[in-house]
Amino acid sequence: MKNSNRGCLITLEGGDGVGKTTHIELLRQYLESYGLDIIATREPGGTPFGESLRDLLLNSQLEFDAEAEMLVLFAARAEHLKRLILPAISSGKWILCDRFTDATFAYQGGGGGIPFGRIKELERFVQSTFQPDLTLLLDLPVEDGLARIANRGGNVDRFEKRDLDFKNDVRQAYLRRQEQDPGRIRLVRASNTVEKVHETIVEHVAQLLARQNII
Ligand code: TMP
Repeated sequence: MKNSNRGCLITLEGGDGVGKTTHIELLRQYLESYGLDIIATREPGGTPFGESLRDLLLNSQLEFDAEAEMLVLFAARAEHLKRLILPAISSGKWILCDRFTDATFAYQGGGGGIPFGRIKELERFVQSTFQPDLTLLLDLPVEDGLARIANRGGNVDRFEKRDLDFKNDVRQAYLRRQEQDPGRIRLVRASNTVEKVHETIVEHVAQLLARQNII
């Protein structure tokens, strides 16, 4: 039976090259098979303002520190929530978001050295108590993710050009977040085949669908 009162927010997280784009598309198809209305979006981005800030944040010609990054990311997030995410959830849509606040804990916290407590202050200011219904953390050794990106080609952005230590710190911070909130954040081993990873994702998402009385 279809429950169409409130939609849900599912976020996908992980380092570069873990396969988020592929799995968002597969997950969209899976959820659409239940007749759900899906919006796929991303952070930073998701609104015209947010996409402009994304260009700024990823511009490898610019230099600014983790505090400035964090403030810009939350400015984009505030708009994303207000104009897209919250209204869509209220109207029963399901949102698949490529990264959300856990990425700030991982990149600006783990990678950039900002204490989690400072990030939580801004999280509370921008989101109040709002959290994703489910977060899928796709985890892969950093070197494997980088090898996948190398095969992809194209320009390297400000974050992709950071060194291996930064990327390992990001990975560890993601894993720490997952340990702190294992109910919401589900760990998915991304080194498996696409089919196996999708299967694991579906297992987690099916639990959410059941909670929402959709299956
Ligand atoms: P991607 O969405 O194409 O993976 O790129 C976005 C980049 O932005 C990625 O390298 C991670 C970074 N980022 C942060 O540093 N903090 C954040 O809060 C978010 C959402 C992204």
